[in-house]
Amino acid sequence: MNEIKRKFESFWKEGLPTLAKKLHYYPYFFKIEGEQNPRVVMDNRDVLMLGSNNYLGMTSHPDVKRKAMHAIEEYGVGTTGSRLLNGTMELHLELEKRLARFLGCEQSVVFSTGMQANLGAISSILTEEDEWVISDKANHASIIDGVKLGGISQKHKLIYEHCDMEDLEAKLKLIPKGRGIIITEGVFSMEGDVSPLDHIVDLAGDYDALIYLDDAHGLGVLGNHGRGTCHHLGCQKNIDMIMGTFSKSFASIGGFVAGSEEICNWIKHNARSFIFSASPPPSVCATVLAVLDIIESDDGYQKKLLSISERMRKGLSEAGFHIGCSQSAIIPIIIGNKLKMFEYFNKLFKETPTSVFTNPIRSPAVPIGREMLRTSCMATMNDELVDLALDIITKIGKDLNII
Ligand SMILES: Cc1ncc(COP(=O)(O)O)c(C=O)c1O
Repeated sequence: MNEIKRKFESFWKEGLPTLAKKLHYYPYFFKIEGEQNPRVVMDNRDVLMLGSNNYLGMTSHPDVKRKAMHAIEEYGVGTTGSRLLNGTMELHLELEKRLARFLGCEQSVVFSTGMQANLGAISSILTEEDEWVISDKANHASIIDGVKLGGISQKHKLIYEHCDMEDLEAKLKLIPKGRGIIITEGVFSMEGDVSPLDHIVDLAGDYDALIYLDDAHGLGVLGNHGRGTCHHLGCQKNIDMIMGTFSKSFASIGGFVAGSEEICNWIKHNARSFIFSASPPPSVCATVLAVLDIIESDDGYQKKLLSISERMRKGLSEAGFHIGCSQSAIIPIIIGNKLKMFEYFNKLFKETPTSVFTNPIRSPAVPIGREMLRTSCMATMNDELVDLALDIITKIGKDLNII
């Protein structure tokens, strides 16, 4: 038999997913019915949804749905081509302008996914042998892979300890001034902690480095009307590139990078995941534009999200859970042991009258020893739902000696 085919066969028969399924421990690919709301039907269970990135609850907002449907009526369902050739419609141009204006940048470039935005933008920026990248250890896989795809050698890729400004400075001292790019997330995707961007800005100034900020989980959540982490910390003018996704607060799929005209022009003509991939369909652009319309004029959803998240964080902390340094809509329950984490996930999801769905997170998404259930809140949750979830999480947490 072909050896490559043999690999698939043995993974199918005895790979970890198969073993986990036999033990009824497989925690992935559960089917969700209906909309992504705080209560969903999932795997035929009535579930409290604590595992969504639909932070502002906009996937079900009537105005957003209406505008997305209208875009389909007016422009059809797809673009069938790259932005560079036949895939640029007026909605893409309008969206790029609106995102730039929202963030106080000159321009932005819209990609078909957030992953593609990081892959394409980061790899296209890092082209020369004498350029350096200094990246936070906890950065998302799409950043790590974007750096891998770039044209710099291994020794020009430096990783600093998570949010450790002394280590960042030590790394900056190793490289020639004016040759480095610091890459960090604004809100970190697994633990919901906020990067010390204001300090990073100071160090970048001292060592003449650029800053690339991935604010996938900060947009819509932090800052004035959800303008993100750099607005929250008052350092938006010093960030060279702000990357965001549409798959979280913006309720859709896609991503973008915002910055100066020159940077955006570079990315548009060099990022391979932008040039060699079809552009987002009109309904996606209309969805994001509709969410922008709402959040620019009304910060009620953001405020509700922050207060619901605070209730959840306080409840978990007072119950005795280890929740790291979350300051956002993401709150981890850190278990630190893979098997225990899966056991806890399963009990919460399958063994209570009302199920609680969380995201079971293990290596490589987090370091070994930092296994967790990642929970996240939505603006459309109410206090009763949070309190019910807290009761269930606490009861099972006690049964399993996690608290
Ligand atoms: C920090 C961060 N960056 C980028 C991405 C990729 O975004 P998308 O899922 O929209 O492709 C994610 C998605 O999980 C993320 O958490």
